[in-house]
Order: sequence, then structure tokens, then C-alpha cells
Amino acid sequence: MKTINLNNVTVFVVKDYKALSEKGASIIAALLMTKKDAVLGLATGSTPQGVYEELVRMNKSGEITFKGVHTYNLDEYYPIDKSNAQSYDYFMKENLFNHIDIDMANTHIPNGMAENSTKESSSYDQKVRSIGGVDIQLLGIGSNGHIGFNEPGDVFEPMTHRVQLDERTIKDNARFFGSIEEVPTEAITMGIGTIMSAKVLLLLANGEKKATAIKEMLLGKVKPRMQASILQFHKNVIVVVDESAASELIAELKE
Ligand code: PGA
Repeated sequence: MKTINLNNVTVFVVKDYKALSEKGASIIAALLMTKKDAVLGLATGSTPQGVYEELVRMNKSGEITFKGVHTYNLDEYYPIDKSNAQSYDYFMKENLFNHIDIDMANTHIPNGMAENSTKESSSYDQKVRSIGGVDIQLLGIGSNGHIGFNEPGDVFEPMTHRVQLDERTIKDNARFFGSIEEVPTEAITMGIGTIMSAKVLLLLANGEKKATAIKEMLLGKVKPRMQASILQFHKNVIVVVDESAASELIAELKE
């Protein structure tokens, strides 16, 4: 494993997806071992699935417990029913919650069926604040640089909000749906301010498709067209990437 230190960001470059999942899980496990009432910010998508598998394994073997842990997910499609297999609520149960000893009352995901998305968004931020904030926020990154569903735009939205999905996100996520027409066009997502208020940000990326976003996030100008670039202003960021996702970053650092 290679480590690159960039001021506030530690980048671990690992061999492959298995190593990425183990590294990501070990960072979360270390928190759970030292803080029984930890608050985790969680993410969905393909990238964190291996981390969740590893956390389930560690929970089953008794290495870690989620009994006192609280979780807040980044985002949810809108509108979408929890029973829809593509909802992030469904994803979290399937990939993590149904297999660990967490109290489901302590798990939180924006409500994709909320009648009033504005109220849902502000009450979500309120919940995150009232628990004292997130200890570790797990993040993936979109090929367009989004974090959560904070899409490329003209501003960094501070708070949780309803958002129109970017065309590229809809295309990227069509693989989970029957057809591109079935991908919801909107979502509720934690805002950039909500994400940045977490004590530690743990961003994972694998595959060549993410190489440009990783380079621009870490070495490019901080701008709302590349939402993840805001991480350059967070004081404690850990990035775990496989060699393909790190390729453009490493090439640029060598120049
Ligand atoms: P992925 O999505 O893990 O499915 O690539 C990441 C993201 O869009 O944030």
C-alpha cells in the first residue's frame, strides 16, 4: 500500500477492490472499537458494498458491535418508496442493516416519500446536529465529482436539500434500473455543509472511471463544478483508492 500525504488529506493507494474494502472497513471498525455510541455517515452505490460486507463479517465474528451506533445516510432518490428495490433504504437493509446488531431506530435515511421535501430536509439536518454531528462520513464520488447527490453547479449548497440529478448521474445509475427512463430524476441529499461538518471524511473510489474526478478533487481548483473539491478545505480527509482510480493523480504528482 502506498500513502500520499497532501496537507489535510491522506491518500491510501491499494491494489484492488478487496484491499480497498478491507482498508475502509478497518478505519470504521477502529472508531467503533473506541466509541460505542459512534455516529456514522453512510453512503450507497457500488463502491461501499465491499466495506459493508467486511463490516458484517467483523460484526458476526464479534470483533465489532453496532449496538450503540447511530447512522445517517447521505441521500435518497425522490420520490421513491422504501419497498422499491432501488431505493437507498432498501439498499442499506440488504447490504448492511439486516445483517448486523444495529437498533433500526438508530438508522436514518432521508424519506423518499416525504410529502414536503423542504421540511424533510431541514428536519434531517436538525437530527444530525442534535446528535452532535457525524464522526466518520463515508463517501463515494461520482464520475462528475458529485458527493452525495450534490451535483456540478454554480454553488455549494450548504444544507440538506432536494436536487435535480445530473444527466451523467442518471446515465451512471441506469445500470441499477431496467432502463434509463426508470431512474428517478430527483433526490434528497445532505448538503455540502452537512457533509463538511463531519469530523472525518472517508472517501472511497475504484476503477479507471473515477481517475479524473480523484485528480481534480485533490489537485484541481476548488469549485462547485467539481463538488468534491471542497474536501480540500476539510481538516481530516482519508481517501482510499485502488491503483486505477489513483492513476491520473499519481501521474500528475510525478510531473
Ligand atoms: P458508485 O457511485 O459507488 O456506484 O460508483 C458513487 C457515487 O455516485 O457517489
